[in-house]
Amino acid sequence: MTPPKKPPDRYVVLGHPVEHSRSPFIHALFAEQTHQHLRYDRQLCALDGFEAAVRQFAQDGGRGCNVTVPFKFDALALATHPTARAQRAGAANVLAFDGDRWTADNTDGVGLVHDIQIGAGMPLKLARVLLVGAGGAAAGVLGPLLQCQPAQVVVCNRTPAKAMALVDSHAAWARQHNSVLQGCGLTGLGSDRFDVVINASSSSLQGAASPVPASVLGPGTLAVDLMYGAAAQPWLDWAQAQGAQPRDGLGMLVEQAAEAFFLWRGVRPQTAPVLQALRASVQARA
Ligand code: ATR
Repeated sequence: MTPPKKPPDRYVVLGHPVEHSRSPFIHALFAEQTHQHLRYDRQLCALDGFEAAVRQFAQDGGRGCNVTVPFKFDALALATHPTARAQRAGAANVLAFDGDRWTADNTDGVGLVHDIQIGAGMPLKLARVLLVGAGGAAAGVLGPLLQCQPAQVVVCNRTPAKAMALVDSHAAWARQHNSVLQGCGLTGLGSDRFDVVINASSSSLQGAASPVPASVLGPGTLAVDLMYGAAAQPWLDWAQAQGAQPRDGLGMLVEQAAEAFFLWRGVRPQTAPVLQALRASVQARA
């Protein structure tokens, strides 16, 4: 008689809203590819119900979760063992449960860095980088960007004081990686061009093309928007029209998921075929 099959290890993405999340699609493909026996669902949390939902999931045997807006700050606060990069970002997008030991990580930044350097083939070492925005998304990626030792990172934000605060909180980290880190408002950019321009602001959600002038782009500039699908299209069209290399946030999404999968399962999935499948699925829905 064959023994009964062990139930799958359970994972979930928690958010509000969460129905748009592509994480179940991505992790199902990772699991299939790496022969991992797991189940991954999405769960909508009430705005005041995040902590209760996480505790219930862990108590029911759940092994880990992804966390999306607006709970990334709460996720960090719940952890007994936050990683250094999650602490630097001030937020976590991944929790892993091992009894009473709860690890919180932030894989957004490393996901972006992998997508830029491997997916798009653009080295960050000694590059000049413009990071647009100074909210949660920008804070999540700045530390890992600096770790790649770019020559310069300028954080540019609609509210200049928020750009300066993000710069101040990463000043020592930037020095440690020989990178010049500066902050400014949207009108303070001068005529500088950048090798990589990253839109981490939520301007695309409001249908705007770009909060920064086209003068920041040169012919070889990689212009990344962290959004994807229809929201990213005005940015992609704008970058393309300027002769820059446009890139949406789907690659980062797959790469941050791969890093979470590695944390949970100890196995690193191949990301290129999953990105291809995800892109096809996003386009089919558009
Ligand atoms: P997220 O978690 O997506 O980063 P957030 O923390 O609310 O969301 O941050 C949104 C960011 O987008 C902020 O940097 C915001 O600028 P302000 O600090 O001035 O609010 C920026 N932002 C939002 N709408 C924008 C727009 N239309 N143009 C430029 N920047 C915008």
